[in-house]
Formats: sequence, C-alpha cells, structure tokens
Amino acid sequence: MSKVDLSVGGKSVAVLAGHLSQIIDLARDNPEIPGSMLDEAKHACADLAFATDFPSRPLLPQAQQLSAIASNLADAPLGAALTDTLSILPWTQNPNYRGRPEFADYLSVSTYCMLTGSGGLVANDQVWSGLFIMGANTDYPAHAHPALEAYFILSGTAIWWREGENPIARPEGSTVFHDRMRSHAMRTLNEPLLCYFLQSGELGPHAVPSV
Ligand SMILES: [Fe+2]
Repeated sequence: MSKVDLSVGGKSVAVLAGHLSQIIDLARDNPEIPGSMLDEAKHACADLAFATDFPSRPLLPQAQQLSAIASNLADAPLGAALTDTLSILPWTQNPNYRGRPEFADYLSVSTYCMLTGSGGLVANDQVWSGLFIMGANTDYPAHAHPALEAYFILSGTAIWWREGENPIARPEGSTVFHDRMRSHAMRTLNEPLLCYFLQSGELGPHAVPSV
C-alpha cells in the first residue's frame, strides 16, 4: 500500500481535527445531544490531531463531490483541510443498503468515512465520528440504528425527518440528534450535503432500512 506525504497529510488531518473540535463546542447548544457524547468526541478529535500514519485509499467516485463542496465552504481553512485529506479518508458505504432498490439512487451519490472508530483513521471505542456526503436532489430513505447519533451540517440545506415529527429544512450550521432506533430520513434539495457525524452508545451495527 502506498503512502502519502505524511507531513502534508498529518498536518491537514490535525487542522481538520481542530475545526471539528470547535464545531463540537457549538453543538452544546442542542439540549438533545448528550454532553458526554460531545466530551468523548472532543477527546477523539485530540487523538485525531496527533495521528500520523495515513495510507492512501481507493477514492469512491461519490467522494469526489467533496472538493466542490469544500471549495464553497465559508470556512476556507476547513475547506482546504477537507480537500487535502480527501484521498486518505476511508470512504465507504453501508452494506445493508446494497441490493435495496429504494436505496439505489442514494448509494449512487453518497458515501461516508470514519475518522475515529471502526475502520477510521484512529481507533476509538467510545465515540465514532466521520464525514458524510450526499449529492443534490436525492432521498435518503428512512433508516434506524441502535447507536445514538448527532449530525453537524457543514454544508447544504436539506429536509430532515425524524420519526414522530414533520420534516423540516435544516440549514448549514444546524445540529440534529437521533436517539437509538429512532427512524430518520433526509432529502437534499438543489445542493449537496456535507455533515460531520458522531455515534455513541451501542456501536457496531450498521443502520438498517426502516421503510
Ligand atoms: Fe443515522
């Protein structure tokens, strides 16, 4: 497996971790998100900032959207860090959605990567975190998982739905919390969606369709 320039990759990951740590602080305004989850996420960001060994990885076509999204971020240093780390992030997709016709469009334009946790850049057994990308004008059908989950919307207003609520538009800068096994869904409008996510609690099982 080839190696990228560690000094460049490590520096960009550290910059990214610093930005994400600040975003976590902003999420403390959301009373639904457990403070302990955010505390663990802060520790995870600190671990990420000191990580150094980054193999290059296959770049899923869906992940290439990140460059265009990142170049339009109001936070230009965050955008630059995202672009610089694009090729060392472990982009993947949820295997539970493969072969499900209602998820075909979603899979064609979406991907996520783990920053901390299983398969991530650094290990963590308390909080998993990562980045999520979804293309414009697409539905992410309803799904659920046993982990607690918090999303931080970095770019792209989308319609979000949680079981028991009416769908609402959540703009950039919003946070949203999904309790364990609470079904949720999203629909992007005319721009792609980029989010930072956290999971804690019962980690491991992938989300399953709940449609
Ligand atoms: Fe979720």
